[in-house]
Amino acid sequence: MRVHWATAVLASSGALLGVQAASNQTGYDYIIVGGGPSGIISAERLSAANKKVLLLERSTVGPTIETGAAKYALSWNDTLTAIDVPGLSFDVGNFPQWTDYICTDTDGTAACILGGGVTVNYMVFVHPPDHDFDDKWPVGWKWADVAAGAERLYARNPGSSVPSADGQLYDQAAYGTLARFFNKLNWTAVDMSAQRNEKFQTYSHPVWNVQDYKRAGPLRTYLPLALARKNFSLRMGALVTRVLRTGSRATGLEIINAATNATETIRLAPGGKVILAAGALHSPRILFNSGIGPRAQIATAQRSGITVPPVAEWIDLPVGKSLMDHPIFSIVIKTQNGTFNTLDAAAILNGTATRDIAAYETDNDGVLTQGKHRLVFFTSNVASDGLTRFYQGSCTPTAEGVVTITAYMTHGLTSTGELALDANQRTTIAKSPYLQTAGDREAATAFIQSMVNAITAPGSGMTLVEPYTNTSAILGSLTAGIHYAGTTKMGVDDGRVGNGTAVVDTDSRVYGMQNLYIVDGGIHPDLASGNNQAMVMVVAENAVERIIQQDKFPDEDMGVPCDV
Ligand SMILES: Cc1cc2nc3c(=O)[nH]c(=O)nc-3n(C[C@H](O)[C@H](O)[C@H](O)COP(=O)(O)OP(=O)(O)OC[C@H]3O[C@@H](n4cnc5c(N)ncnc54)[C@H](O)[C@@H]3O)c2cc1C
Ligand SMILES: *[C@@H]1O[C@H](CO)[C@@H](O)[C@H](O)[C@H]1NC(C)=O
Ligand SMILES: *[C@@H]1O[C@H](CO)[C@@H](O)[C@H](O)[C@H]1NC(C)=O
Ligand SMILES: *[C@@H]1O[C@H](CO)[C@@H](O)[C@H](O)[C@H]1NC(C)=O
Ligand SMILES: *[C@@H]1O[C@H](CO)[C@@H](O)[C@H](O)[C@H]1NC(C)=O
Ligand SMILES: *[C@@H]1O[C@H](CO)[C@@H](O)[C@H](O)[C@H]1NC(C)=O
Ligand SMILES: *[C@@H]1O[C@H](CO)[C@@H](O)[C@H](O)[C@H]1NC(C)=O
Ligand SMILES: *[C@@H]1O[C@H](CO)[C@@H](O)[C@H](O)[C@H]1NC(C)=O
Ligand SMILES: *[C@@H]1O[C@H](CO)[C@@H](O)[C@H](O)[C@H]1NC(C)=O
Ligand SMILES: *[C@@H]1O[C@H](CO)[C@@H](O)[C@H](O)[C@H]1NC(C)=O
Repeated sequence: MRVHWATAVLASSGALLGVQAASNQTGYDYIIVGGGPSGIISAERLSAANKKVLLLERSTVGPTIETGAAKYALSWNDTLTAIDVPGLSFDVGNFPQWTDYICTDTDGTAACILGGGVTVNYMVFVHPPDHDFDDKWPVGWKWADVAAGAERLYARNPGSSVPSADGQLYDQAAYGTLARFFNKLNWTAVDMSAQRNEKFQTYSHPVWNVQDYKRAGPLRTYLPLALARKNFSLRMGALVTRVLRTGSRATGLEIINAATNATETIRLAPGGKVILAAGALHSPRILFNSGIGPRAQIATAQRSGITVPPVAEWIDLPVGKSLMDHPIFSIVIKTQNGTFNTLDAAAILNGTATRDIAAYETDNDGVLTQGKHRLVFFTSNVASDGLTRFYQGSCTPTAEGVVTITAYMTHGLTSTGELALDANQRTTIAKSPYLQTAGDREAATAFIQSMVNAITAPGSGMTLVEPYTNTSAILGSLTAGIHYAGTTKMGVDDGRVGNGTAVVDTDSRVYGMQNLYIVDGGIHPDLASGNNQAMVMVVAENAVERIIQQDKFPDEDMGVPCDV
């Protein structure tokens, strides 16, 4: 193993490891860009397959004590940071880390920290149902094709609805109140993992991405395995600007070294491959800077000072053109008799919430083992265009007797937006992905109206809280779901040809390139039925498997009609 932390030391599996002077700049079979969930999973699987792998991550340290976050240790336990403790996740946006960890060079929200979005997210872990793949993913990526990869993920990182060591759930008053409400509507109680295909009028205890009483995710469930292998290197503080290429062949990467601000070049081994996993909002910029994408975006990259390839080598692909996301609507309800409340983050952080802290530290149980939501529901409706659209509601106590429902419109929605670049190297959302089609607007309105009707019905024991007291006000509460997809869409309709929309083929390879792949959320051609982190991980498990298979059959047809 070789680690280049820009600062500090790394403790892996309990062992303290010294800082390596510098990463070997040559000779990698695989260079993976981005240490988020898709990048870590890909790197771990490739290193297990005996490839020589370099993982490049722009953040200089990680979010855990083991990965260099000592300055963020909790006041009451110096082996933990606030990011680790499930019961603090509801307040992540107020942690001092938040501004360190959130990217400043993109519209929308993305995390620029080892572990990616999974380091800062609210931990809801939705096993995707069959239809998330079966409806719009290309042939070869239907549920039957990806199920084995999903099982590989869940064997390591299953998520949990009962994360406490004593098998108890805590702080269940809000769940009880909401379950009674949904029972009256004749909805069905399910286990959202075991019954993942039940997405019509169902509710469940939340499944959180928690393991061993801490925030889980590939940072904890995959990265330590890779770090234990000699032929895996992790280099931190490496901001990748572009892929170096000769025609259709990637030859290496250009990076900015965070420690020195110097530009460096990292070369691939002969026959080596580059895998982009910088996330749906960042991999497109790396492509634009590498002469891949709409001509206008490449020209903007050039104006921003990037050395793009000569015009003759530009690859005209619709990068950024199929941006998708879940819109969020806020439904805030006051319950008549609800005795629940939000947790006191300040008291947990400063150590005065002694009972909850003692339960957590001593017995691995109590409310701090749980994420922020108390109930998650799913449903769908059919609009006059005949299409079925799905919804998820994540319900959290936010004040005395008050529940906030973060209601997402999810799988089946038909709107797309566009991601672009500005001359300061910032990615921009040039066209919003939300409610762009009449069908989406009609369906969202009908869903919210049905919720409003049920909440305001006599005897419901609930009222809507100002300012979102009617359907139009709730529609107007729209915010980003932060589940971005589609910017480097997978498909068989090669984006270089006619009206083709795809950027990568079904082996995850960029059309027109021999050895450049993408595995992050950007390749998803469709949205998941719920929060998408498990979907991102399932897709990465499958994409990397195909890339490994490619190595075994290197002469296979690339499906590139106008190469060289
Ligand atoms: C605030 C927030 C809340 C969310 N809540 C939930 C939730 O509750 N449940 C859920 O399922 N999903 C949630 N999500 C979404 C989920 O976390 C993301 O979909 C997922 O992390 C995407 O994974 P990825 O691998 O595609 O990219 P990312 O997670 O974005 O990872 C990209 C990685 O690449 C690195 N990187 C970027 N650019 C470069 C570069 N140029 N050079 C080197 N490294 C680079 C980044 O630092 C990062 O480590 C949330 C996301 C956010 C941001
Ligand atoms: C770097 O990698 C190359 C190619 O694998 C190898 O020949 C060389 O010895 C390595 N150098 C160091 C310093 O590890
Ligand atoms: C990678 O490491 C494994 C053992 O960890 C070893 O068997 C294999 O030969 C190594 N491969 C390369 C290419 O270095
Ligand atoms: C729920 O089911 C019962 C029994 O079938 C029925 O009487 C009632 O009208 C249903 N309620 C709703 C809201 O659909
Ligand atoms: C880093 O280098 C760039 C370009 O060389 C320069 O514009 C920038 O100011 C430098 N940043 C720092 C923090 O030195
Ligand atoms: C800790 O936080 C609680 C809740 O905000 C506050 O009442 C208390 O005064 C704080 N105690 C200390 C020692 O900071
Ligand atoms: C800190 O937390 C860890 C993990 O919960 C626990 O094992 C350890 O005992 C705690 N340390 C102290 C000093 O309580
Ligand atoms: C709230 O409590 C009152 C008084 O006990 C009771 O009449 C009412 O039915 C309760 N409402 C709900 C929704 O449980
Ligand atoms: C809906 O609520 C908003 C905000 O409170 C208010 O301005 C608006 O008049 C209401 N619309 C209707 C149709 O009641
Ligand atoms: C591309 O789309 C346009 C407009 O929808 C259509 O007229 C044209 O026939 C399409 N071309 C191909 C090759 O499908």
